[in-house]
Amino acid sequence: MEKRRMQKIFEEVSLLGFGCMRLPQKNGAIDYEAAEKLVDMALEGGITYFDTAYYYHDQTSESFLGKALTARHPRDQYTIATKLPLSVVQEADDLERVLDLQLKRLNTSYVDFYLCHGLSADAYFNKFKPMGVEAFLKRMVKAGKIRYYGFSTHDKPEGLKQLIDDAEWDFVQIQLNYLDWTELDAKTAYQHLVDKDIPVVVMEPVRGGGLANLADGPRQLLERRFGGQSAASIALRWVGSLPGVKVVLSGMTEPYQMEENLDTFSPFVPLTEADKLAVANIVTALKSLPVIPCTACNYCNVCPNDISIPRIFARYNNYVMFERPEELIAPYERFIGEGHRAEDCEACGICVPFCPQSIDIPGWMQRVVEKREEIRQER
Ligand SMILES: NC(=O)c1ccc[n+]([C@@H]2O[C@H](COP(=O)([O-])OP(=O)(O)OC[C@H]3O[C@@H](n4cnc5c(N)ncnc54)[C@H](OP(=O)(O)O)[C@@H]3O)[C@@H](O)[C@H]2O)c1
Ligand code: SF4
Ligand code: SF4
Repeated sequence: MEKRRMQKIFEEVSLLGFGCMRLPQKNGAIDYEAAEKLVDMALEGGITYFDTAYYYHDQTSESFLGKALTARHPRDQYTIATKLPLSVVQEADDLERVLDLQLKRLNTSYVDFYLCHGLSADAYFNKFKPMGVEAFLKRMVKAGKIRYYGFSTHDKPEGLKQLIDDAEWDFVQIQLNYLDWTELDAKTAYQHLVDKDIPVVVMEPVRGGGLANLADGPRQLLERRFGGQSAASIALRWVGSLPGVKVVLSGMTEPYQMEENLDTFSPFVPLTEADKLAVANIVTALKSLPVIPCTACNYCNVCPNDISIPRIFARYNNYVMFERPEELIAPYERFIGEGHRAEDCEACGICVPFCPQSIDIPGWMQRVVEKREEIRQER
């Protein structure tokens, strides 16, 4: 297993980390036996970084690790990352109370990597900085309850820059993969972190599974260059080839995924310049599919019904690029709240003049509704 040293804090970690957000499930809960096997496979394969969060699996992912990992394996053989659930913190006194609950769930006296979960510049400057979150984190390091602290974020690169300019963070977790390098401008976010010498932890390297399952055209390009290697392994190697990246978190659900991903990192072989060029061509092919040209700029955020326009379009585009009809069913319903879905668009057209891409927003909403219906009927 490739290991990398996190600069500044000198902690050595496995380049592949186990993301415990997509553990196998049975009857709507974590399938303990199957998930425990994955934990054991991870440790045997050299993974030392386990990432969880307060919220994952309806708040059961941490206690799962408390049983399957900390209760069964010596605590000095791995590191645990978990996250401060920002939405449950209302006042400063909540901070330590929540961390103590997490330690209890995790069955441990300390967390190695503690992250503010999904921090945005807006939330930080308006709520958590005035609340004294940085002083709290420093106090917890001194108390031995956490070893290092950072944040995960889906904010734009400008927001990320404000966060890293304002406080000292030991590491930062961002969404990074070969498609979001340009789609979400992850390139700029990554560069901001590298410029400040902050270790980068990557989430969604396979874009939540999408890059494991490409549509026909891009898949053929991938096979031509990388014949015999899986699309998931190329996505992981692309991310791991960035020197600033210290941990690549993958949420592995099936034993074959764990096995394959362990192989990809043991030993890790970075992509060559020619390989990277081939991946750039795959990105071009993905973008040339009949996707909605939405850039998620959010200028259309004027809808009287508060329809989640860019989120709906992102799910539709995932469906097209990754040939994943389920994108428009389960993730759609998970990420887009009731009352804010395509089904709730009244075709009033108010949003249309605000769109710099001249997208026929109500027309596409109708198409999404029809597509969802079609997929449901095919099941
Ligand atoms: N802090 C945050 O805001 C935040 C947000 C997102 C994620 N995270 C963390 O980051 C971790 C990683 O993100 P992620 O789970 O989205 O990672 P990911 O690796 O991009 O996606 C995981 C999915 O990719 C597919 N996959 C992985 N390896 C594969 C293989 N070898 N072959 C085929 N398919 C493969 C599987 O999808 P299928 O089983 O569907 O095929 C798997 O469920 C999460 O688990 C979580 O711990 C944090
Ligand atoms: S057309 Fe639909 S999405 Fe646009 S503003 Fe009207 S209701 Fe909202
Ligand atoms: S204004 Fe247009 S491009 Fe921007 S988020 Fe809305 S639909 Fe997408």
